[in-house]
This record gives sequence, C-alpha cells and structure tokens, in this order.
Amino acid sequence: MNEKIQVISKYALNGKMADRVQALRASALAAQLTLESGSGRGNDFLGWLHLPSSIDDQQLRDIESSAAQLRSECEYVIAIGIGGSYLGAKAVIEALSDHFAAYKACNGPKVLYAGSNIGEDYLFDMIDLVRGHKFGIIVISKSGTTTEPAIAFRLFKELLEKQEGKEFARRNIIAITDARRGALRSLATQEGYATYVIPDNVGGRFSVLTPVGLLPIAAAGFDIRALVKGAVEMERNGDEQVLEYAIARNALYQNGKKIEILANFTPRLHFLAEWWKQLYGESEGKGHKGIFPASVDFTTDLHSMGQWIQDGERTIFETVLSVGDQQHEVIIPSDDADLDGLNYIAGKSVDYVNKMAELGTRLAHVDGGVPNLLITIPAVTERYLGQLIYFFEKACGVSGYMLGVNPFDQPGVEAYKKNMFALLEKPGYEEASKAISEKLNN
Ligand code: PA5
Repeated sequence: MNEKIQVISKYALNGKMADRVQALRASALAAQLTLESGSGRGNDFLGWLHLPSSIDDQQLRDIESSAAQLRSECEYVIAIGIGGSYLGAKAVIEALSDHFAAYKACNGPKVLYAGSNIGEDYLFDMIDLVRGHKFGIIVISKSGTTTEPAIAFRLFKELLEKQEGKEFARRNIIAITDARRGALRSLATQEGYATYVIPDNVGGRFSVLTPVGLLPIAAAGFDIRALVKGAVEMERNGDEQVLEYAIARNALYQNGKKIEILANFTPRLHFLAEWWKQLYGESEGKGHKGIFPASVDFTTDLHSMGQWIQDGERTIFETVLSVGDQQHEVIIPSDDADLDGLNYIAGKSVDYVNKMAELGTRLAHVDGGVPNLLITIPAVTERYLGQLIYFFEKACGVSGYMLGVNPFDQPGVEAYKKNMFALLEKPGYEEASKAISEKLNN
C-alpha cells in the first residue's frame, strides 16, 4: 500500500495545455518560494506552515489531558465555533466516526456542534437534547467576538451552570481564543476556565492542527498524535504533490474552468469537503477572481448533480478524492431467485462496486469534457487525514499566490456583519443603522 496521498493530473491536462503548464510551473515555484520565505502578502499569517513539526509532546499531553477530563465527566461535548473554528474538527471527527454513532451507545461523549448557525430551532433541539445530561463545552473563537458562537455559548453556559453548578461548569468549559484580546479571553479569565491559545499568526481556516481542531478531535476519542504525524510527513515531503495540484488547478482556471468540484465516493468525507470549501473559498475568492469551490458526494449526487456535471456548461473541473481501503468489508450475497438481477456481482465487496462506479464516472466525465484531477488517499485514518489537511493547506497558499491574491485575509466576510449589526441596532452602529433603514424605506 502507498504510504502517502498522491495527486494525478494526467486526466485533467491535455497536450494542448503543455505550454501553459510549463509556464505555470515557474509561477508555482515562485509562489512556493514566496510562501516559504515569508515575503508575500499576508505573511503575518504563516504560523501554520511549520506548525505540524513544531508541535511538541507536552502540547499534545496537555490537550489529551483536557480531552480526558471532558471524557471522564461528560455525556456530550458541545464544540462551539464557526468557520475555521469548527470545520476542521468536524471534518476529522465525521471522517473517523461510525456513521451511526449518534444512535449507538459509545464509551465516551458524543460531540455536538453549536455556534455555526443562528438557527433557533437547531439551538432549541440541542438544548432539549442535553438538558438533564452532563455536558462540557469547548468554545472556540479567535476574535472572541463572533456573534454566532457568542450566542450559543451564552445559552449553553447558562444551562450548564444552572444544571450542574458553577464548579462543574468551570471544570468542563474550555476556551480556545486569542492570547490576550477579545470578549472570550476576558470571560475565560474572569470565570477561571482552562484555555488554549490560537496563535496570532494562524488564521481560522488554517487552524485545525492547533488546539482548535486537536482538542475536539481528542475529546471525540481519536488519535491526534497520528494526525499530527501525517501532517509532518507532508510538511517534510509533500511539495511534489502540492505543486502538481496547484499547477493543474491554475492551468484549468486559466483555460476557462471556473468551478472546481471536489467529489468523494466515501460518505465519511462529506465534511472534509466542507472544510476544503472554506479553505479555498475564503482564501482565493477575492478581487473578483478565484475558482469557485463546490462539492458532491457520489454516488448519491450522481442521481442529482450527475446530469449537470456530465452535460451542463463546460466551466467545471472535478477533483476526485479516491480512498484506497475501507475499514470494513461487506460482501454482496448470492440469491437463488436473482429477481433483482444482481447475481453477476454476488461475492464481490460493496467497495469493489463503488470503485467501478468511481472509475466509470471519471471516464464518463472526462469524455464529457470535465477535466479530472485525482487525489488518492490510502485509507481514511488519522495519519492520512493529517497528510490531506496539510497538503490542502500548503497547496492553497501556493495556489493563492499564483492567482495573485492574499490567501490569508477575508475582508469580504465583514460586509454582512456590518449590515446585520446595523439592523440589530448594535451600539456603535448608529450611523449604519440610519443609513440602512433609509435604504430599505426608499
Ligand atoms: O477562517 C477564518 O478566519 C474564519 O472562517 C473564522 O474562522 C470564522 O469567521 C470564525 O472566527 P472566530 O474564530 O474569530 O470566531
């Protein structure tokens, strides 16, 4: 078995693109140098670049011990955060969990996610679920002021303190935030919560290998040492794959392919695609440029989006995340009557059929004019997820610089917040409130 993820671009780049690819190789190497020398835009946010190899045993032991505390006293752990403050943890936990863990008894807490929306019914249902049960909270916000997690934290903190008392709450609330600034830092100091720091030079969407991702993943019972080990492998030895991916996607973009669809054939990777969409969308979509990152879960979405992908506007390319080994084997049984006509695959594993669906789909999409990039991952384990995370992060940095944007800021996400605060009449937004109500009344 291959010990590392691989990137295969030969089904994406045809001979006619050879010159473009050649030119982009030079641009990719320059972007890589800019990234590694810290001489590009956003260079005060490069803390993630050598993060995996800088994580020491003591840091991991601290995180494991906080996770053990939560696991010892809580039936549920609520991870509160939004965007980069929750997607990485959710991606890894969902990828490694039993698909039906929510319906099964397990020897450890179930991890729930709050603060990633403002859905009233969502919060009501979660409050209803944890009421009367022992739960802990990991509240994550780099700025410490984001509205969605702040609302959720206020609700669950109040419930926990009423239900279990201040002492239990103090033991089982852990805050991950800026070292000095923000409302969450002040609150954590005042209440005496255990805290972890999100380094100043690591942006939210690049923070999964800090306590932001590692603590919820450890609390869910997964091996964060193997995850970090995989990331270190790619940090030390992954540039070939990084360059291949960055060059191919920029070549396709310049050739009119404006949308990248990340496709998986493994249901457990659904949230990895959600994390990837945030990483690439927030990093590259600026200055009216950038590939639009989309995702599909196959074969499910072959019965919904398959038609569009095969036959719609030819502005897309596809990146298939292909998994080598499944964790379990299920063999299709033979049936004497064969009324469903499936005996021709009796004795085969379900994954064998899935692999043929994957190959058939890739061939059909390439024939239909959808260039196909392939990323192979030997199996969905902590180690290979660690590799994949670091690979996507570094390729994002290189790719963003190739595109000519600052991949490490996100000025565009402020616009909705300004309007929302104006509409909510937040103190300090008086002028904006006046302007927005005039706009709405005209
Ligand atoms: O990648 C980012 O920087 C964002 O998605 C943030 O993670 C997200 O907005 C949450 O911010 P914060 O952690 O400050 O609450």
